[in-house]
Amino acid sequence: MKNAIIVGATSGIGKELARLLVNDGFRVGITGRRIELLESLKSEKPDCYFIKAFDVNDTKVAEEKLEELTGELGGIDLLILSSGTGNINNKLDFEIELRTIETNVTGWTFIADWAFKYFENQKSGHLVGISSIGGLRGSRQSPSYNATKAYQINYLEGLRQKATRLKTGIYVTDIRPGLVDTEMAKGDGLFWVMPLPKAARQIYTAIKKKKNVAYITKRWGIIAAITKLIPKQVYNRM
Ligand SMILES: NC(=O)c1ccc[n+]([C@@H]2O[C@H](COP(=O)([O-])OP(=O)(O)OC[C@H]3O[C@@H](n4cnc5c(N)ncnc54)[C@H](OP(=O)(O)O)[C@@H]3O)[C@@H](O)[C@H]2O)c1
Repeated sequence: MKNAIIVGATSGIGKELARLLVNDGFRVGITGRRIELLESLKSEKPDCYFIKAFDVNDTKVAEEKLEELTGELGGIDLLILSSGTGNINNKLDFEIELRTIETNVTGWTFIADWAFKYFENQKSGHLVGISSIGGLRGSRQSPSYNATKAYQINYLEGLRQKATRLKTGIYVTDIRPGLVDTEMAKGDGLFWVMPLPKAARQIYTAIKKKKNVAYITKRWGIIAAITKLIPKQVYNRM
């Protein structure tokens, strides 16, 4: 039996991945701030889920809870880092930018590094980060969200390079979804929003294949390729 932790499993992609992993025989440690949602997911299959509520920004508590969770599971093979936040911020409200940076950069880095060091010590393991296609270019509507996702993409590449140099069995996967139908992707004028179950299935396939980078879905992969090619002069006017 394999064990995993999903950070950010109270809703959306993390929650759906937790269900897929459990259906595939994993025991899964699920985390997030909303304990009642963790309890609700656990009630679906109480023997398969282990819960710890914490805020990724409280790194001291996060470390304690991750260690407790790993102990209860008896070790982990996989950690999926799905926690994240982002808002439209046309007025550049600094509180929104700060919350995004804290969650998607500071807290996120703490968890990614905790997992990497755990796997380094164990000489095996798989770290998966859910970044975003948004990380490929800047955004006038949500500058901090796209910038923090660019950070995650770059950081995961750095950890992958480190893992390769270590020559142990550590894998680092960067999942870059387009729009997925979750709490985060609400708003007007959204297009090609993927149903959550479809996105989660494709993410899980990419995880099982231990891909370095995966765009979810193929259609969004094409959009990502085009996005990268748009000349700066054109992009600045969009
Ligand atoms: N939906 C999309 O279109 C889309 C596209 C590309 C990438 N993504 C990325 O996919 C990931 C999952 O997002 P989602 O779409 O599934 O949205 P979601 O349903 O809002 O899930 C976000 C998860 O992150 C957790 N979280 C947020 N802030 C946290 C904090 N400070 N401490 C601990 N946990 C925190 C939430 O749990 P609590 O609120 O209970 O703490 C929740 O479980 C995010 O990294 C997002 O950027 C989403």
